[in-house]
Amino acid sequence: MEEKKVANPIHGLAVRGVTKHFHRTKRTKKKLRFHQKILNLFNREKEIIRAVDDISLEVNIGEIYGILGANGSGKSTLIRLISTLLLPDSGSIHVFGDDVVTHSLKVRQVMNRVSVEASFFKRLSSAENLIYAARLYGISATEAERKAKRILERLGFDPDRMDEEMEQLSRGMQQKVAIARALLTTPMLLLLDEPTTGLDPKSKRDVQAFIEEIRRERNAVIVLTTHDMAEAEKLCDRIAIIDNGRFIAEGTVEELIANTPSENGAPGTLEDVFIALTGKQIEEEA
Ligand SMILES: Nc1ncnc2c1ncn2[C@@H]1O[C@H](COP(=O)(O)OP(=O)(O)OP(=O)(O)O)[C@@H](O)[C@H]1O
Ligand SMILES: [Mg+2]
Repeated sequence: MEEKKVANPIHGLAVRGVTKHFHRTKRTKKKLRFHQKILNLFNREKEIIRAVDDISLEVNIGEIYGILGANGSGKSTLIRLISTLLLPDSGSIHVFGDDVVTHSLKVRQVMNRVSVEASFFKRLSSAENLIYAARLYGISATEAERKAKRILERLGFDPDRMDEEMEQLSRGMQQKVAIARALLTTPMLLLLDEPTTGLDPKSKRDVQAFIEEIRRERNAVIVLTTHDMAEAEKLCDRIAIIDNGRFIAEGTVEELIANTPSENGAPGTLEDVFIALTGKQIEEEA
């Protein structure tokens, strides 16, 4: 039976009160004797990690929604929940009106995720990996190769290296292949989990320009996580600041700045807002 669509269709993505907790076994710092270690295996205290804690958000078609947070704040967990890789403990997620838990197959067809831990067939070339992925979506090998070449060129990846085994490519190059793979098809929901982390400045700019181009050309919903304040300011229409699994602020850059009084009364920056709200200096990974 077809489930009643609950999300407002203009909201490409609607996340309502979503929670995901992990249970981690606490490790003791005390030096234990052998028999104590064995006993301890059975009696270890469990610790609850509130990776995503009652998060709600809505993203409209044509919008880039940014999630800004320090390491371990819950960004990737939230992206995995939206992309059907993890099941929420509670709350609901709808993509173009479809529930991601009950209609996961349908939802997977309209979305793609880019993340730093993208997996590939390491012994195959990027061209082979991209053609393989495209075939799963019913795109012919010739068309996939033509499209992939165009996207990779646009991202500053030398197309002459498309025949090299993936494992011979640098991490940044592999990341560009991951971005190309996500864009070979025409996803209506694009989840970009730190798409530019670890890229050199020129590559970072190329990827950012490409993301802006996608927003202009396709009426997609884009969710982007980042550590990079400048990237969030440049690309995102709205930004949520996440800390310990919770959204602690949300709005346009102007709204976030206006709502956070600066210490000396001078207009603040997004970084000032982030530090004022989280008490953390955001880490930019090398
Ligand atoms: N599968 C898992 N099992 C147990 N704990 C997990 C698991 N996945 C994530 N966590 C924990 O959940 C919290 C949030 O992790 P998450 O990967 O979502 O953070 P993040 O904001 O993406 O961080 P980063 O910026 O480093 O990528 C962390 O404390 C992490 O250790
Ligand atoms: Mg992450």
